[in-house]
Amino acid sequence: MKAELLYEGKAKKVYLSTTDSERLVLSYKNDATAFNGKKKENFPGKGRLNNEITSVIFPYLHEKGIKSHFVKKLNETEQLVLKTTIIPLEVVVRNLATGSITKRLGFKEETPFSPPLVELFYKNDSLNDPLINDDHALLLTNISAEELRDIKAKAIEINTVLQGFFRSMNLILVDFKLEFGLLSDGTIILADEISPDTCRLWDIETKEKMDKDVFRQGIGDLITVYEKILQRLEARV
Ligand code: TMP
Repeated sequence: MKAELLYEGKAKKVYLSTTDSERLVLSYKNDATAFNGKKKENFPGKGRLNNEITSVIFPYLHEKGIKSHFVKKLNETEQLVLKTTIIPLEVVVRNLATGSITKRLGFKEETPFSPPLVELFYKNDSLNDPLINDDHALLLTNISAEELRDIKAKAIEINTVLQGFFRSMNLILVDFKLEFGLLSDGTIILADEISPDTCRLWDIETKEKMDKDVFRQGIGDLITVYEKILQRLEARV
């Protein structure tokens, strides 16, 4: 199914598919990184958990009319996706203030954002993924102003769908990061992954952090909380 290694990122490897030139195989790694790779640890089982979690969330989004690159889960740690050229933007949606925005702009922890706040970061490790504005995004990518508007609108729509989805599992979707890619015909679709690596999820009652912040902040066991997220997802579907 998978042929040549095309790219290795911090959390996934990307392979060409042997059977279809328009598809790729994503292989989820057990590595977790934070602070642009400065903190790194291997967690046996993490790759499987993020593959399983993403493989529940993307089909749910499909059901709600949100297209993505996801085709199917292949095995415990791998999934088949449509081949896209990733647009080098990290599109972050925030419902409550925490993380970088509290440090950057001084928002008090848990300040609600209504409507949700959308931020763009330039996906570039050597520059430390800086926050950028729309004009920067147009200069740094090949997308048009209209396409950027569509991407931001799509991110807000995904937020609405996922907020309800997670709320039904007693989880608050605090914030998350999306990436979009271009198909060979130029269509823009949701890509990458949606997992506790890329979302902040808090238990509604206890406010327990159930995402990669446990590793970033050294406040809990990553595998234990990712297992709990998968269990809640599986109990729902
Ligand atoms: P931030 O508060 O650190 O800017 O993170 C905002 C959201 O984006 C949070 O849900 C974690 C996610 N995120 C990633 O998926 N990848 C990253 O490299 C960073 C910095 C954040």
